[in-house]
Amino acid sequence: MRETKPLIIALDFANTREAFLLVDQLDPALCRVKIGKEMFTRFGPDLVKRVINSGFEVFLDLKFHDIPNTVAGAVAAAADLGIWMVNVHASGGRAMMEAARNCLGENPTTKLIAVTVLTSLASSDLHEVGVQGTAEEQVMRLARLAADCGLDGVVCSARETALLRQGLQPDFLLITPGIRPVGDSAGDQKRTETPAAALAMGSNYLVIGRPVTQATDPLLKLKQILHEIHSKI
Ligand code: C5P
Repeated sequence: MRETKPLIIALDFANTREAFLLVDQLDPALCRVKIGKEMFTRFGPDLVKRVINSGFEVFLDLKFHDIPNTVAGAVAAAADLGIWMVNVHASGGRAMMEAARNCLGENPTTKLIAVTVLTSLASSDLHEVGVQGTAEEQVMRLARLAADCGLDGVVCSARETALLRQGLQPDFLLITPGIRPVGDSAGDQKRTETPAAALAMGSNYLVIGRPVTQATDPLLKLKQILHEIHSKI
């Protein structure tokens, strides 16, 4: 079934003033919010709690990668904050992912997803760190492992969604950054897709940053993106 609230807005700011200026303009009925390493390192759990208290479901994008016991503790701490989604690196291996999954208990309210291969890495970078084959093969291998460990989904580029959809269960979640609405600048993103195209290719959730966060009217932009999606799908 298609997700009714597929947009996750990336809160990438160097200060809380700008972050809350945006949060106060957005509508939690229309989107969720992603907090990443930069803001979390500066402002910590207090920021997360404030965003949750504003009514938003939060994806805590900290990409944990450590020994199983440490990652399980970090995932449990994230869940205790009341976050909606958290992630780990699939390359941390089976024991790490299973420990992370198990610490969330039987019917977790926090979704646990994995990063397979960072989209900043090409096959040549992987060869340099000892991974043979192509980046796509490694993405598929790690996504299968994440699914096998009971994780809820993976972060992936729009280009990878079709491949992953073929090889994995239909309810396995695909979360896709690198999204640009029709007519928006790509910025530093190399390969972008429009929101409607990424959803049509099989993504469940789209991570969108600057097209919304830097818009003159972020809520209007959000509504325009949702309109673009609904008119095309
Ligand atoms: O501003 P923009 O839409 O490019 O922001 C995308 C967000 O998704 C940023 O927070 C970025 O760190 C994150 N991201 C990404 N590409 C990945 C993984 C995460 O752009 N492969």
